[in-house]
Amino acid sequence: MKVDVLLGLQWGDEGKGKVVDVLTPRYDVVARFQGGPNAGHTLEFEGQKYVLRSIPSGIFQGDKVNIIGNGVVLDPALFKAEAEALEASGHPLKERLHISKKAHLIMPTHRVLDAAYEAAKGDAKVGTTGKGIGPTYTDKISRNGIRVGDILGDFDTIYAKAKARHEEILKNMNFEYDITEIEKEWMAGIEYLRQFPLVDSEHEINALLKADKSVLCEGAQGTMLDIDFGSYPFVTSSNTVCAGACSGLGVAPNKIGNVYGIMKAYCTRVGSGPFPTELFDETGDKLCTLGHEFGSVTGRKRRCGWIDLVALKYSIMINGVTHLIMMKSDVLDTFETIKACVAYRINGVETENFPYSIEGEVEPIYAELPGWQCDMTKMTSEDEFPEEFNNYISFLEEELEVPIKIVSVGPDRDQTIERYTE
Ligand code: GDP
Ligand code: IMO
Ligand code: MG
Repeated sequence: MKVDVLLGLQWGDEGKGKVVDVLTPRYDVVARFQGGPNAGHTLEFEGQKYVLRSIPSGIFQGDKVNIIGNGVVLDPALFKAEAEALEASGHPLKERLHISKKAHLIMPTHRVLDAAYEAAKGDAKVGTTGKGIGPTYTDKISRNGIRVGDILGDFDTIYAKAKARHEEILKNMNFEYDITEIEKEWMAGIEYLRQFPLVDSEHEINALLKADKSVLCEGAQGTMLDIDFGSYPFVTSSNTVCAGACSGLGVAPNKIGNVYGIMKAYCTRVGSGPFPTELFDETGDKLCTLGHEFGSVTGRKRRCGWIDLVALKYSIMINGVTHLIMMKSDVLDTFETIKACVAYRINGVETENFPYSIEGEVEPIYAELPGWQCDMTKMTSEDEFPEEFNNYISFLEEELEVPIKIVSVGPDRDQTIERYTE
C-alpha cells in the first residue's frame, strides 16, 4: 500500500483540516509530518467548530489511528490543552493518538527565543506565530534539540542543559522574560505526554503499510512557506512540501501515492513577506470579510488577493500534485469579475516561471473571468454548478494541468463536492 499526501499549495490556511476530516473515512491512519502548533486546522460539522494545532485532523472519525510523526515539533503544554479540550468535548484520544519518540520538543525558552529573534529583526521580522517553531527546528538541525523519547530517560538533566544554553543566548541578547508560569504548565504537559503511546512511528507506519492499511499524511502550512522553496526568509522552518512526508514520517519516496494539493479559489497570507497578488483595495477587504480571513491561531487579519497561478504551478511541480482540491469557492459567489494571475512582469520582463525571489516590484498579469453571481453554499453536486463556475474550473485545470477533484463551497464537512473527473 502507498501513502497519500495532502498539503497546502499557497501560504497556509487553505482549508487542509476540513479536507483531511472529509477524506478520513477512506483511510485507516492519518499522520502529521511537520510543523507544530503554528498550524491551526479548522473543522466544522454538526454545528460545532474545532481548531486543531498539533493533533491530526483525522481524530474525529471513529477508531482511526492518528500519528504525530518525527518531523513535527511538539509543545507539551499546548498539546495538553488541545487534547484535554477534545476529550472534554467527548472525543477520547489517548489510545488512538500515537506520538513519535523522535519528534522534537518545543521548550518554553524556544518560545522566548522566537520573540527575541523577531524583536531583533525589527522591521524585517517574519511575523511568526510566536510558538517557538524556528528556534526548535534550529536546535534540531544544530543537534542540540530534545526529543519526546528523552522524557523516558534522565529528562531533568537533559532539560536543564538545553535550558541553560538558551538562557545564555537570551542573556547575551539582553532579552527580558519570565517563564515561571509557562514552565509549570510545560512540565505538567510532559507528565501528560507519558499517558500516550510513544512510538517509533517510522516502524509503525511501514508495518501498517505492509499490512495493507491506508495512510493519509496531513501537511501543515503551505508550499510557499517551505524552508527551501517558499518565499525565504519569510517562511516557516520545516519542509512543508511532499518530500517532508518522507523525512517527517520515515516513508520512502516510492511509497508516495496520490498527492492532494489544496488551494483557495483566491489567495491569502498571514505574517510578513512578499505576496504578488495582494489587494489593498475594496476587493481585498471584501475577500477578507466574506472569507472570514482571520488566523485560526493568532486571530491576525490575513492579507487577501487573487489566485496566483505562477506560484501554484511551481507548488504543483515541487509536490508532484496528482489532484487539486479547491476551497472557499463560495467566497467568490458575489463577484462580478474574477481575476487569476497568469504571469509576472519583473523589471519589464514577463515570466510564467516562479522566480528566485518575489521581493521587490512584481507586477501580476491577470486573466479576467466572469463571476457566477449565485449562492453555491447549498449545492451538493457538480451538476448544479453554474456555467461561469465550470468555466473558472476549466480555465484553472487547463493552466495548472491537474484535475480539480474536490470543490468546497462552505466550511462545513457537508459542503464538499466531489467531481466526476479522475
Ligand atoms: P488550514 O490551516 O489549511 O486547515 O485552514 P484554516 O482552518 O486555518 O483556514 C481555513 C478557514 O476556512 C477555516 O475557518 C475553515 O472553517 C474555512 N473554510 C474551509 N473551507 C471553506 C469553504 O469552502 N468555504 C468557506 N466559506 N470557508 C471554508
Ligand atoms: P496552517 O497549517 C498560515 C506563517 C507565519 C509566519 C511564518 C513563520 O494553519 O496552514 P512560524 O511561527 O512558523 O515560524 O511562522 O509562517 N505560518 C502560517 N501561516 N498558516 C499556517 O499554518 C502557518 N504557520 C506558520 O504567519 O509568516
Ligand atoms: Mg490554518
